[in-house]
Amino acid sequence: MSVNFAGKLRLGVNIDHVATVRNARGGEYPDPVRAAKLAEEAGADGITAHLREDRRHITDPDIDRLMDVLDVPLNFEMAATEEMQTIALRHKPHAVCIVPEKREEKTTEGGLEVAREENRLAHFIAPIRDAGCRVSLFVASEQRQIEAAARIGANIVELHAGPYCDLFSEGKFDESQGELERLREMSAYAHSLGLEVHAGHGFTYETVQPVAAFPEVLELNIGHFLIGEAIFRGLTPAIHEMRRLMNEARA
Ligand code: PXP
Repeated sequence: MSVNFAGKLRLGVNIDHVATVRNARGGEYPDPVRAAKLAEEAGADGITAHLREDRRHITDPDIDRLMDVLDVPLNFEMAATEEMQTIALRHKPHAVCIVPEKREEKTTEGGLEVAREENRLAHFIAPIRDAGCRVSLFVASEQRQIEAAARIGANIVELHAGPYCDLFSEGKFDESQGELERLREMSAYAHSLGLEVHAGHGFTYETVQPVAAFPEVLELNIGHFLIGEAIFRGLTPAIHEMRRLMNEARA
């Protein structure tokens, strides 16, 4: 399969942490749906929102409203549970990204164990795919996970960029380059198996460019850093700068 070097790299903006701030006080402000519309106007190609089992940030009414008002695709992140499958089938968002979820974690820590849970996940994603949603699996940069994702008929793998980004931000530059190399190899490998390749988790202005330059990667999903940066420069300029860096790396 040839690589589409000219393919536009999409930016998916994750608005979960606008809801984190809202929920710290209860009430309605700041509204993640308003942030999603602003992100859309600022050039986001999609919006990502993670409805967690404990509803610690995004809530069910947020998903209802996002489905109503968005003009760009919604990437609905969720765990592989029956409750979430029912919600996904009710809304039929453009994409459903399956992530592992542990109640006590601060954020999604690892990738999905597709290889070990191949059978269960194959049955789990089938109705979602049949309903017309693109099914994305959030996985570590490991050959066996990617092969299992392809075998069970996922459309997309989102590669976990956390190990690379975290090592970089901890100042462990050499180790981060090892993780970056794994991301590079596994992007090419997933693409060769016919999977669409996305990457996400932990990107900042400093870490985004090397991954944005991989021709097989079609989408980056970025949240926490952008919402943090919005405090200092506003959401629109924060997104514009990320977009500029992505375009520069792609060129
Ligand atoms: N992609 C996936 C699958 C995620 O779970 C997350 C975090 O919710 C992100 C992307 C965005 O990561 P971050 O908020 O660190 O940019």
